[in-house]
Amino acid sequence: MGTGSFAQNQPTIIPIETRRNALVLQTDKENHLGIIYFGKKLSQSAEYKSIPSQSRQHDGNAGIYNSAYTPSGTWSVSEPALQLTHGDGNKSLDLVYVSHKTTKENDNVSVTSIVLKDPVYAVEVTLFYKTYFQENVVEQWNVIKSEEKNPVTLQKYASANLYFIAKDYYLTHYNGTWAKEMNPEEELLTAGIRVLDSKLGTRANLFQPPSFSLSFDKPATETEGKVLLGTLAWSGNFKMDFEVDSYHNLRLIAGINPYASEYPLASKQEFKTPSFIYTFSENGKGEASRNLHIWARKYRILDGEGTRMTLLNNWEATYFDFNEDKLSELFKDGKKLGVDLFLLDDGWFANKYPRNNDQAGLGDWQENIKKLPHGIGYLVKEAQKTGIKFGIWVEPEMVNPKSELYEKHPDWVIKQPQRPEHYMRNQLPLDLSNPEVQNFVYGILDKLFTENPDIAYIKWDCNAITFNAYSAYLEKSKQKQSQLYVDYVKGLYKVLEKIRAKYPKIPMMLCSGGGGRVDYEALKYFTEFWPSDNTDPLERVFMQWEYSYFFPAITQSAHVTDWGKQPLKFRTDVAMMGRLGYDIVVSHLNEKDLKFSQEAVATYNSVKDVIFQGDLFRLVDPKKNDYAALMFAAKNKSKAILFSYLVGNRNGDGSDTPFRLEGLDASKNYKVKELNLYPETKSALKEDQIYSGEYLMTVGFNPIVNARRTSVVVEITVVN
Ligand code: GLA
Repeated sequence: MGTGSFAQNQPTIIPIETRRNALVLQTDKENHLGIIYFGKKLSQSAEYKSIPSQSRQHDGNAGIYNSAYTPSGTWSVSEPALQLTHGDGNKSLDLVYVSHKTTKENDNVSVTSIVLKDPVYAVEVTLFYKTYFQENVVEQWNVIKSEEKNPVTLQKYASANLYFIAKDYYLTHYNGTWAKEMNPEEELLTAGIRVLDSKLGTRANLFQPPSFSLSFDKPATETEGKVLLGTLAWSGNFKMDFEVDSYHNLRLIAGINPYASEYPLASKQEFKTPSFIYTFSENGKGEASRNLHIWARKYRILDGEGTRMTLLNNWEATYFDFNEDKLSELFKDGKKLGVDLFLLDDGWFANKYPRNNDQAGLGDWQENIKKLPHGIGYLVKEAQKTGIKFGIWVEPEMVNPKSELYEKHPDWVIKQPQRPEHYMRNQLPLDLSNPEVQNFVYGILDKLFTENPDIAYIKWDCNAITFNAYSAYLEKSKQKQSQLYVDYVKGLYKVLEKIRAKYPKIPMMLCSGGGGRVDYEALKYFTEFWPSDNTDPLERVFMQWEYSYFFPAITQSAHVTDWGKQPLKFRTDVAMMGRLGYDIVVSHLNEKDLKFSQEAVATYNSVKDVIFQGDLFRLVDPKKNDYAALMFAAKNKSKAILFSYLVGNRNGDGSDTPFRLEGLDASKNYKVKELNLYPETKSALKEDQIYSGEYLMTVGFNPIVNARRTSVVVEITVVN
């Protein structure tokens, strides 16, 4: 083991600290960089020196397990973070510490960069740790650089390599498929490697998102336990290895999936990995997710600290069957409802192969002259005349084989040249590794915005995964086919970057036939995402709950639709927990339903800031109870909105046992008032009842849901 050529040094200790936590790195006698500590930060950082040097990890036979970035082919035989082939064909890699520095971006944000080098080959890796001090969030990525004469081939090039020491490890991960997204499973990790991954390409998260929570010692609850929330900011194939090693310590390696993705690195070129983002809390999942939300709104999500518009979408109201008259009626319906925006969905484009169903037309982004003889511009104006803004659906990365685009540019399509095509929803992804395709996709949006500067919203869809991964462009330009999965995502980001440079503010929804694509790189460009095509509100209580561990309410689009068996009030209450929208036929609402909905939109507008920017407390877990309860509390504790839903009806009784509220000021008094009552129903709560914050957070409160009253929204307002 070891490099031989490096003299024994004093250990270098590098603490990566946030307000509460520390990740401590240390060099060993051979200058290999290991992780010696992860967890609550010590008040005297000098004491990190006293942490034993992990000598039990120095196992002459098996190498060092706690490496901060595990190389392969030399002294380590553990799962690598970086695996490559040098220009001369040699596959060995060693990485030793060279230097590090910390740069302060401002009072809250610092970046520590650590340079590691191979002592034999001209390969260098810089590890970056960006800390968001107050929020206890760390963003980690690496830059790999080669100065070898011949190109190096990267086989595995992870974003993060972490090391944890605890009694036990409980991993919560998510699985699902279309309309069944975000089903959590918690498992005790046992010896060996547990892998979370995706090989789906474009719609990478259809079966599994790159987000997880990891509890140490015992499963964390909302309010107790050590827990890490982690997520990879990458909109493509990912892989996360959780390896419980021979000492029952846990190695985590997270990054782009190496599957079919060998990536060439020419001399003097750099490869920047995506970011792995995590936060750690000693006080349970609630605190961890609140930290992540604050970070995300402040530093990551486009317009994260802004607001969002309410909307009426026509997808489920009309599907592909509409014309100008019908749409004009819908604008009026939207206005009547009181929403800010009308969102025109799929079906407005293509002429040779009109987009009248999902089998044709995708790729041909000209208005369909039969449905829209006066074009989009006319619609935007009509909507404005009615007093409502106009937004539009696009699916710019995809093509139907039955389209002019496909006929004209078959080489722009991802498909194997010698094999039958394989479709999902009758369509194929375009090859975004190709700069021409990037320009085409950019051009779709640019044209829409240039011709119609008043377009106020975009829904960006992506409905197919990547089969038959092959790029005619990479072939022609003599690049490697194995670049495709990565270059696709890079191409997508290039397009989004260019769109945002010219149109920085316009809200865009990241939709992928449901939650097929959501991560913190995409959310730099998008204001919100579509969690699932399943809008059955009962399902949404569960799904939105799970998404809320990682993504704040301001990013979760939630529409009132006709899915499910719940009454309109229940459907509305659930959609109010995110960015509220409607996808119903407003003219089918009876008088009471319409009145209720109009009032709901107005009520929502008066409280949505608390939902978007407040702290979220998940109080009663629907997976373990007959009902769910959660609340959003304004930062200054002056107001909170509490939601409760009956989710299990075995007894039909719900529960009236008080549960403890959170996020209030114990020394203040609060008025409790039910919102969103259905016309002619009376609240079961005592009118204007006053409670102290202490009472609400110690004894508790229950707004009572049962078979006759299945959902409740309560406003809690400070009085003195
Ligand atoms: C996807 C979206 C839906 C709708 C349809 C249109 O399934 O998730 O909301 O936009 O496409 O074809």
